[in-house]
Amino acid sequence: MSDITTLAGLLDLVRVRIMAGLTDKDAASRLPVLATRDAQGWPSARSMVLRGFDAGDWTLDVHSDADAAKVLQLTDGPRAMLQFWDAEASLQVRMRAHVIRLPHEQEKALWEQVPEAARSQYGTVPPPGTPIAAADAWHPNPRPARFAVLRARILRIEALHIGDIHRRARFEREEGWQGSWLVP
Ligand SMILES: Cc1cc2nc3c(=O)[nH]c(=O)nc-3n(C[C@H](O)[C@H](O)[C@H](O)COP(=O)(O)O)c2cc1C
Repeated sequence: MSDITTLAGLLDLVRVRIMAGLTDKDAASRLPVLATRDAQGWPSARSMVLRGFDAGDWTLDVHSDADAAKVLQLTDGPRAMLQFWDAEASLQVRMRAHVIRLPHEQEKALWEQVPEAARSQYGTVPPPGTPIAAADAWHPNPRPARFAVLRARILRIEALHIGDIHRRARFEREEGWQGSWLVP
């Protein structure tokens, strides 16, 4: 059990709860919200499946159709936020991140691990978000060139634990994740 009365313990809880999302389909961190900005500066947020987490380096991976708006937005500028509310742990996690697309060779290697049935998510004709005359006026055309692996390098974590008292803390990569308490 993580001791959420200490900064290190609260950060440990964040780590444990993100890791749960890799193996437990019901864990809240399985479906983080990824927020970006569109070309006009409007916030643009959507649910994504967590596909990878490096708990030592604090990087998260998600997968997308390469022609989806979020990928184009992140190519324009890598600043993003990932967020989830974990009711089981009474924990909100907000993560500021630089998100980059992995080099194509790495994406191709990961594509080999995507189950056949899941590949249809990566490559539609026309591309995701295109206006169409009827709901079914599109078809899948999965291919590795349309498989984007987005790697989020977490720069800042804000944790809010809801409990007998609410506890809020901020952890910065640049400060070695030591953390500081904030008014909730
Ligand atoms: C439960 C759930 C899981 C989703 N997982 C993903 C995902 O892993 N990758 C993805 O690109 N879109 C995923 N989506 C769809 C996105 O939320 C979004 O609608 C889509 O990617 C288009 O977003 P964009 O136009 O902003 O790029 C998921 C949606 C839901 C409801």
